[in-house]
Amino acid sequence: MSEMKEPGAGPRNASLGDEIVGCIDELAAISETPEHLTRIFLTKEHRAAADLILSWMRDAGMRAHLDAIGNVCGRYEGEVAGMPCLMLGSHYDTVRDAGKWDGPLGLITAISCVAQLHRRGKRLPFAIEVTGFADEEGVRFASTLLGSRAVAGTFDESVLGVKDSAGISLRAALSQFGLDPDHIGAAARTRGELLAYLELHIEQGPVLEGLNLPVGVVTAIAGATRLAASLTGMAGHAGTVPMPLRRDALAGAAECIVAIEEFCRTGQSGLVGTVGYIHATPGATNVISGQVSFTIDIRAPSDAHRKLAVADIVRRIENIARRRKLKLQLDVTHENRTVPCAPWLKDQVSEAIAGEGFRVFELPSGAGHDGMAMIDIADVAMLFVRCRGGISHHPDEHVDLADVDAGARVLLRLIENFRPRGAAQ
Ligand code: GLV
Ligand code: MN
Ligand code: MN
Repeated sequence: MSEMKEPGAGPRNASLGDEIVGCIDELAAISETPEHLTRIFLTKEHRAAADLILSWMRDAGMRAHLDAIGNVCGRYEGEVAGMPCLMLGSHYDTVRDAGKWDGPLGLITAISCVAQLHRRGKRLPFAIEVTGFADEEGVRFASTLLGSRAVAGTFDESVLGVKDSAGISLRAALSQFGLDPDHIGAAARTRGELLAYLELHIEQGPVLEGLNLPVGVVTAIAGATRLAASLTGMAGHAGTVPMPLRRDALAGAAECIVAIEEFCRTGQSGLVGTVGYIHATPGATNVISGQVSFTIDIRAPSDAHRKLAVADIVRRIENIARRRKLKLQLDVTHENRTVPCAPWLKDQVSEAIAGEGFRVFELPSGAGHDGMAMIDIADVAMLFVRCRGGISHHPDEHVDLADVDAGARVLLRLIENFRPRGAAQ
């Protein structure tokens, strides 16, 4: 960040895009394996990424620290020290074999905007805080938004006992990372400290590209329900147990997966269901599977539709398990309600988009975001940036430099013109 070119050499703030892409690439190099980008909560890659982001925050003129759950937090004071803040942010954990833009684009663009204000020596009538959330994706502990829930003061202590696939509990992982699992409450912020929460993020879908627009205003973040399913049958010899006598857990899971797909494909528009993880034991070619665990992720345009769909899917799975004489265990691991973006804040996002000369277009977010937790302590809005082919959660995820730059210009304009709720124009 400190080597950023001064503005004025090209189009207004053109250097922001170059700087942001440079940082995106630097952060993407911090990964569990060099050939696939994977950066998971409370790992050594988390630590290395946090150190790098904290250094960028300090270069940008912010006071910065790691909080009690491993979020990176930067603060740029307003005209007077201690003023309430406009909080900007996104996450810096990834899914497995991820793209490099989901999360980091919003976080790094926010830091770049603050760096720009800092270079100009500009202070605003409010503080700016930038938060990099440590666990949005929920890859490790089957519970999403752990970073933003800690900040919102809604962290569920019972999650501390949840174990990752290696049998390490969240409590143990926090201690190994050097954090105190009994003091996560120290990360919590209060409504009075925040004027609003604003997040820039890649769209992760094809809508903006289809309309040839670089940016869009988010109307609401769709809710989601996630379940963990376990089917237990009877393991046995693949050569000797006749087909009618089998209680094959993997075949049962396969039927459930197809039933979920069929139900969502033919159901009401916008309903989506995904089984993204499955594990069969004992897991051998010549052994009938005795036990299978799999996950289910269900999303719909409204909470009412989602709840009805989940109830229907659960009934179908119960029927399949009963018919196949499999023991079923189904647990809801995560339930997020749909979060509307605040109209007063959305209006300011729209003004900034129009101010940069782009058509204002509103769209919902099918993906989950940290705003779903932040809504408990602040009004929330989001600015989407177009991504190529609508591809996300995939290494081919891509944002063009011109769109990175457009997003940064809109965000900077939005920050500079930000008015707290109820303030006069
Ligand atoms: C987060 O990316 C989610 O929507 O699952
Ligand atoms: Mn994601
Ligand atoms: Mn994301």
